[in-house]
Amino acid sequence: MVFTLNDGGKVHALNDVSLHIEKGQMVSVLGPSGCGKTTLLNIIAGFLSPTAGEVRLNGSKVTGPGADRGMVFQQGALFEWLSVEQNIAFGPKMAGVNSNDRETDVQRFLEMVGLSGFEKKPVYELSGGMQQRVALARCLANDPDVILMDEPLGALDALTREKMQGLVLKLWKETGKTIILITHSVEEALFLGERLVVMAPRPGRVEKEYTLPFAERGLLDSPREIKSGPDFVRTREEILSMIWGMEEEIMGTV
Ligand SMILES: Nc1ncnc2c1ncn2[C@@H]1O[C@H](COP(=O)(O)OP(=O)(O)OP(=O)(O)O)[C@@H](O)[C@H]1O
Ligand SMILES: [Mg+2]
Repeated sequence: MVFTLNDGGKVHALNDVSLHIEKGQMVSVLGPSGCGKTTLLNIIAGFLSPTAGEVRLNGSKVTGPGADRGMVFQQGALFEWLSVEQNIAFGPKMAGVNSNDRETDVQRFLEMVGLSGFEKKPVYELSGGMQQRVALARCLANDPDVILMDEPLGALDALTREKMQGLVLKLWKETGKTIILITHSVEEALFLGERLVVMAPRPGRVEKEYTLPFAERGLLDSPREIKSGPDFVRTREEILSMIWGMEEEIMGTV
């Protein structure tokens, strides 16, 4: 992906990125700021056309946004003036689902994200964590094949974030959706990704890939136990030094 700037300059945002993701996988993507994570997600979502190469989903080339791909953003993507239930039912309504089925869906997804009873609340009355639960439910209500998440838990405090990581794991297992999750948190990427892709900048590319056991274990064992285990800590430190090295290359040492 090469961006052409107004002054004619070029930004080589992504180079030779090649990933094959299986149905039902949860892939986390990490990398220093500016390495092209959001650009990659936007290309998969169909918001951006790559200047070379292509994305194929279930064998078909992606040419624009579609209901087969759902997005969850860091914050602010809900309709603030609508209720929780109207937010979740919005996509199905647009897709022509009848009101009885919509109501059943709303109840099902609210229960899944732990917000039963909140359907009539206006979104602006909810905490940040609750709003992200609604964002997850709204995304699931559209029944996408792939869920794309750009820092979905990035605006939450540490405790809420940890709880929500557990929820993302649970939703992943219960729905069998394919999930691609961008995060700045190495711990989160390790905990949630069955596969972890580390990207490097200038030009944005895949630096290293890991296959990890922690997401599977996270469904059974306590998150704290997993995150303090020796193999988790060792991998975390390895990735942190890799990313620190990249940041120093860009920013210089302080
Ligand atoms: N529309 C655009 N026009 C020009 N350059 C762009 C555009 N979008 C992104 N870029 C550039 O492409 C590179 C990758 O940007 P991108 O937003 O994908 O990075 P990122 O990895 O998501 O960063 P962050 O972690 O800060 O969110 C950056 O150098 C950025 O300035
Ligand atoms: Mg980004």
